[in-house]
Amino acid sequence: MTQVATTVAKTVQPDAYLKSLDAREFTAKFNRQPFTIGHQLVDHPLFDLQRLVELSQFLPPNSVEYNSGDLPVTQDPDLTPRNGLAIDETIRRIEECQSWMVLKNVEQDPEFRDILYDCLDEIREIVEPIAPGMRVREGFIFVSSAGSVTPFHIDPENNFLLQIRGHKQVQLFDVEDRSVMSEEQLEKFFTGAHRNIPFLPEYEAKGHWFELQPGEGLHFPVAAPHWVKNGSQVSISFSITFQTDSSQRRQSLHRWNNGMRRMGIPPSPVGARPWSDEVKYAGIRGCRVAKRILGKK
Ligand SMILES: [Fe+2]
Repeated sequence: MTQVATTVAKTVQPDAYLKSLDAREFTAKFNRQPFTIGHQLVDHPLFDLQRLVELSQFLPPNSVEYNSGDLPVTQDPDLTPRNGLAIDETIRRIEECQSWMVLKNVEQDPEFRDILYDCLDEIREIVEPIAPGMRVREGFIFVSSAGSVTPFHIDPENNFLLQIRGHKQVQLFDVEDRSVMSEEQLEKFFTGAHRNIPFLPEYEAKGHWFELQPGEGLHFPVAAPHWVKNGSQVSISFSITFQTDSSQRRQSLHRWNNGMRRMGIPPSPVGARPWSDEVKYAGIRGCRVAKRILGKK
């Protein structure tokens, strides 16, 4: 531990992990459009493969997901092929084992929690006036072999993906484009459906491509559909994520709309009628209060 702390002090300044944080760009694009930032984590010893092996053994089994990296863009989550290896072996042999792995909620380890929170504190300074209430701060580390594919999917968090090692290509789609992701898909996702969604040939021309090199980061708006392809080397990426008042409100409204649809009542899409959203959200908060009161009895 002492050795790691000493190395950290020599390689990076903990108060300045991120760079190129442009307040005007955040104001114009945050959680609406993708944009890039920079970071100084490339040589950080926490992202050495051996340290990641230790992290993978520290985390509970349900915080480690891994499989073959040789996947199509559309992947049925129930049929995702395994790689036949143990977790630690997968990381040690990542150069050759053609695999994909995510270490989830790395904030469970105090050293990773510190670096995650330091990075997000830098983001919060700019984001708070735009989208107040940063909370549910979670970190994910992706370790994957050359050429690995992350199938087409959506994620529930405000996300900045920081590329540490290797490079990857990301095709990212407009979160508001209902010809790519329907309102029903969003509702089901926020009610517990798997993140993977089908990729149809006609989507190809609609997405924007981003190429991430070490030292670069990309902002993903909440639930913006995307898929990822690694370059010709092992890739390590650090995903720093959070919720805000606004993102949690939208999740609640999608879940409410899912309930309405299941009762046969077609809901107005979230954001289409602000007054309708207000009424629904008042109902959601009322239900929560009622549950708390009943739970206490
Ligand atoms: Fe993702």
